[in-house]
Amino acid sequence: LILQALRTIVETAGYQQANFFQYDEDRKLFALLESSEQEHPAEIKEILTFRLGEERGLIGVVGESRQALIIPDTKDEPRWVPTDETLRSALFVPVFRENRLLGVVSIVSAQTDAFSEEDARNITVLANNLAIAIENIQLFERVTKSEARYRGIFEGVQDAIFVESPDGNILDINERACQIFGYSREEFLTKKVSDLLPPDGEALLPDRPGGRDIPNHPIETVNLRANGEKFPVEISGRVNNVGDEDVLLVVLRDISDRVKAQQELQESETRFRLLAEFTHDWEYWIDPQGEYIYTSPSCEAITGYSADEFIAKPEFLFEIVHPNYQEKVIAHYHDQVNKLQPEFSMIFPILNRDGDQIWLEHHCRPIFNQAGDFLGRRGNNRNITARVRAEEGVQRQLKRLAALHTIDRAINSSTGLEVILNVLLRQTLEQLEVDAADILLYNKNLLTLSFAAGQGFQTSALKYTRLRLGEGLAGRAVFEQKTVVIPDLAEVEEKFARSQEFKNEKFRSYFVVPLIAKGQIKGALEIFHRSRLNPDSEWLGFLETLAGQAAIGLSEIELFEGLEKANFEINFAYDSTLAGWAYALELRDRETEGHSRRVVDLTLRLAQAMGIKGDALVHTRRGALLHDIGKMGLSDKILLKPGPLTDEEWVLMKKHPVYAYKLLSPISYLNKALDIPYCHHEKWDGSGYPRGLKGTQIPLSARIFAVVDVWDALRTDRVYRKAWSKEKTLDYIRAESGKHFDPKVVDAFLKMIEEM
Ligand code: C2E
Ligand code: SIN
Ligand code: SIN
Ligand code: FE
Ligand code: FE
Repeated sequence: LILQALRTIVETAGYQQANFFQYDEDRKLFALLESSEQEHPAEIKEILTFRLGEERGLIGVVGESRQALIIPDTKDEPRWVPTDETLRSALFVPVFRENRLLGVVSIVSAQTDAFSEEDARNITVLANNLAIAIENIQLFERVTKSEARYRGIFEGVQDAIFVESPDGNILDINERACQIFGYSREEFLTKKVSDLLPPDGEALLPDRPGGRDIPNHPIETVNLRANGEKFPVEISGRVNNVGDEDVLLVVLRDISDRVKAQQELQESETRFRLLAEFTHDWEYWIDPQGEYIYTSPSCEAITGYSADEFIAKPEFLFEIVHPNYQEKVIAHYHDQVNKLQPEFSMIFPILNRDGDQIWLEHHCRPIFNQAGDFLGRRGNNRNITARVRAEEGVQRQLKRLAALHTIDRAINSSTGLEVILNVLLRQTLEQLEVDAADILLYNKNLLTLSFAAGQGFQTSALKYTRLRLGEGLAGRAVFEQKTVVIPDLAEVEEKFARSQEFKNEKFRSYFVVPLIAKGQIKGALEIFHRSRLNPDSEWLGFLETLAGQAAIGLSEIELFEGLEKANFEINFAYDSTLAGWAYALELRDRETEGHSRRVVDLTLRLAQAMGIKGDALVHTRRGALLHDIGKMGLSDKILLKPGPLTDEEWVLMKKHPVYAYKLLSPISYLNKALDIPYCHHEKWDGSGYPRGLKGTQIPLSARIFAVVDVWDALRTDRVYRKAWSKEKTLDYIRAESGKHFDPKVVDAFLKMIEEM
């Protein structure tokens, strides 16, 4: 895809060549992406491998800066790696999504000055599209991975399973099929179903209405192994609709052993018993009147009822057939027996002694002696519960994969948050067979989860949900980044305090999965059910797959929604709160009134004069505003003491930067503003506190602030001394240059004061 896009650029714009250097996040290396038809020799590949930030070549530079770069003339560019003298100008564009670097596109031309700013903008748009495409491919790989999870079921079965197209191509087989037939997986996938049948095989298959439509109950036929040996099999199958396509799911069992056993059984009852007792199957023999002659002890393992219980009551087996199937099973049985069918089989569920549903596969055939007298019927019942469950599992898997593709399509078509969330919720309700579900979105500035979309609710109980991180079950699940499973809400202490109306929904089970994409919290998926749910690991696995897709969907969408604006408003609200704190401190520390505002103004001027800009300036501002917030932790006795502090009082006073750190560091929004509150009493010569940092170990913003703070402190009255004059204060600051203060900051400060 990438190479195709680059080829198109080269062809339409007439450039020399375009390359993609793919970024390997673990190794921090860029490697040239090559097409299979055109591979470079190893030495060239080595030269064309760049490290993030590396100054050799420009790939690492552009990857690090994430800015497009135009080289008008490669001969004037010392960092250029000349692999080909004819390449005279170049354009490099980074490819990234959110914070994730995926690679760098380089386009080179034989002319100098071939690239304009306009070209750079166009290729940047292309790079963004490429990034989206790459992410989608990775999403597809995730979906394929979830397919691998279900493969376990497919492979765990004792029978061969085939997935076939309607025209008889083999699309997929399990390992057991390879063992039974003696073909490798690769050989199988080149075969057609007809290759597995002996020359007269088709004729042996009973009538199949609808072509390859094999009946759901098993039929016996003959197949060929790879070595040409014919062997008896029993097959059943059904058509599944996956997306727009029909596929045939065929289950095949090698019954050589059973057929052989039954042939041998005909020879003697003793051998019959012996063999019967060696198999897990429940073998039995009934006389022409329908009374048991013999039933093997396995009946107890399968049904929980003893052989004696069956022998005492010939109709007993029918009595334990699952009530929904009873009538049909009895009718079918009598029908077959009356017709004196040589052999027949059926599959039906019974309820064992514990009331659990067990699926039996029943075979039965009439027995005649040499003289042709009817001796009764022999049969066997096999417990195929595991296989039936597995088949159900495979079908569920196919449906769930189709569901994932549906969601994927919704995400890719970028139809907007609401549509995507509703597609996702609909699939959640259908595939997980639950009553209701909703999605809560995480606001990383307000640290809240709020309701975004829901389905299956009868009231508007949850519509106004707004939880703080860590609050309630959902808030906790997100905070701890783990799924919370509550099979019965009545059994937990914690009530759904979100809404009075909630109890009218009569929900019993509750699940909440945090939505996390690329390590970032996006929200939560909540599932509600009105009866008790006891999900298996497969169900939970699929729930997590859905959640993973929801999280990806949400991170896609963020790019399109105007979150920027909301962020601005929230930052504004935050900053008023910060100013409020600073003011509260000034109220306590009476004499220093206006100190915060003044130091903020001076600090920002000095910081700008020293080249700080952009975001860093915002953090500097907040840090200066809050610089002494840690003094909130001191008693009035110390804070307002008119005279000098005692040694013990100094120990406490020197803790105020640490208090500030403890107070502010849990607030992720203020993390980058911590430098000033934490480090404003460090000194250039290392004699400051709390950590005794030295020189440039002290963050620049804190070095700048220190000068301003001392200036303003000395220029104003303190409880412990009167204000100093301007000259005395400037002399003091000059004298402390290189001791308390960074000399460069002092120079800039003196220059600034002069100009004021
Ligand atoms: P503050 O009043 O905001 O002072 C900030 C910094 O300005 C001081 O940090 C110090 O570097 C400088 N500074 C302030 N006043 C003077 C002064 O009279 N002479 C000199 N040479 N420098 C001065 P420092 O020393 O780490 O003090 C931190 C905080 O401890 C001060 O914040 C103040 O709240 C308190 N403090 C300092 N000395 C005394 C004192 O003698 N009595 C009382 N009650 N508190 C004091
Ligand atoms: C480089 O020299 O930085 C890479 C040139 C190229 O695109 O081959
Ligand atoms: C019965 O007659 O009770 C059972 C016989 C059979 O399943 O073949
Ligand atoms: Fe301080
Ligand atoms: Fe201060």
